[in-house]
Amino acid sequence: MASSASVLAAMLVAAGCAAAASAMEMDFYVGDAQGWTTGVNYTAWAKGKQFEANDTLLFFYARNQHTVTEVTKSDYDACAVSGNPISNFGGGALFTSIALSPGTHYFICRVGNHCASGMKLAVTVSNPSDPPRAQPWSRPRSAPTGASTRLHAGGGAVAAAAAGGGLVKLALW
Ligand SMILES: *[C@@H]1O[C@H](CO)[C@@H](O)[C@H](O)[C@H]1NC(C)=O
Ligand SMILES: *[C@@H]1O[C@H](CO)[C@@H](O)[C@H](O)[C@H]1NC(C)=O
Repeated sequence: MASSASVLAAMLVAAGCAAAASAMEMDFYVGDAQGWTTGVNYTAWAKGKQFEANDTLLFFYARNQHTVTEVTKSDYDACAVSGNPISNFGGGALFTSIALSPGTHYFICRVGNHCASGMKLAVTVSNPSDPPRAQPWSRPRSAPTGASTRLHAGGGAVAAAAAGGGLVKLALW
């Protein structure tokens, strides 16, 4: 009995690991409640976070005020806002969602001197690791209640951003 119970326990652990491994992608709210704006240190925000392939970066910003522009390292280092971007989002959008691929990605805002005012983010993305990540500040994408949990998490970030001023329009989204 004891040994079959152990086998069953081992099987349950293995099944749990498999389920966790297939549900590892995470959503990261860039800047947390402050969103994507000037005056935030995104190097400090990214510090200690472990980004993996197919994780999502969610940039929330004030409509028509900012861009989310992926650039080369040299354009990032120099805040070269008129260089050739790798990709560019912004305009009337309220948020931009970017699925990450392995490697280092550099994002800046191309508006005015916003990049020099802090709107630059570098993330290094690895392939998924075996052990689950412990990152309490971001929720696994497939939390038990699924989409409503994610919406709720987004709503929390939006409400917090609105409370901080600046991004009040997001509350209507
Ligand atoms: C931003 O944070 C990083 C990491 O904590 C730090 O090294 C850097 O000096 C900060 N930059 C500014 C402009 O405060
Ligand atoms: C990322 O997602 C794509 C498309 O859904 C999938 O083909 C790929 O295997 C995923 N990569 C990783 C590392 O999970």
